[in-house]
Amino acid sequence: MRNHKSRLAVFCSGDGSNFKSIHRTIEDKQLNAEIVLCLSNREQCGAMEFARNNGITTVHLTEKQFTSFDEFADAMLRCLREHGIEMILLAGYMRKVPDAVVAAFRDKIINIHPALLPKFGGEGMYGIHVHTAVLAAGETQSGATVHLVNEEYDQGGILMQRHVPVLSDDTPETLAARVLACEHTLYPDSLEKLLAEQQS
Ligand code: GRF
Repeated sequence: MRNHKSRLAVFCSGDGSNFKSIHRTIEDKQLNAEIVLCLSNREQCGAMEFARNNGITTVHLTEKQFTSFDEFADAMLRCLREHGIEMILLAGYMRKVPDAVVAAFRDKIINIHPALLPKFGGEGMYGIHVHTAVLAAGETQSGATVHLVNEEYDQGGILMQRHVPVLSDDTPETLAARVLACEHTLYPDSLEKLLAEQQS
């Protein structure tokens, strides 16, 4: 299986800087994988623009396009199957992945969270809220976590974590920038380890 490139879908809602760092790592031949599609709930965002500019199929999918959540989940599953997706990477995807998709891709959906889980996770803990909470708690260390996705927010098994110092004059924004820079190496490193295990 060593020559088989894992077929990845990346789910994004924003800038897609993690998507870009993973794409760059694949281009540099450090990951035996290909990004087959970028799925987003937002048609216009940095991630979708990057995908379009790099010949990656884009899929704009939101609950609003369907009359029920089940239909939405079915459409997502169909799309993933049609493209032969083997692994899903959440990279700033601001929606909950439907349970039916989690069940169909058990242990094949990965997320990156901008804090050291299990602290500072759960519903509502995203973006700047995470870093504001870390500073309010007086933490001296923050970091990022790559983890498996299950039916509960930020509660799947942890794959890899990396620490980032909290500085005395940090604002949520300066801390966010330092953590994001860390994410850009942590996510590719975690995938390299995971794919090496799966493909050996
Ligand atoms: C990152 O901080 C990630 O940890 C979180 O959402 C942010 C996405 O940023 N899940 P980007 O879209 O990859 O730039």
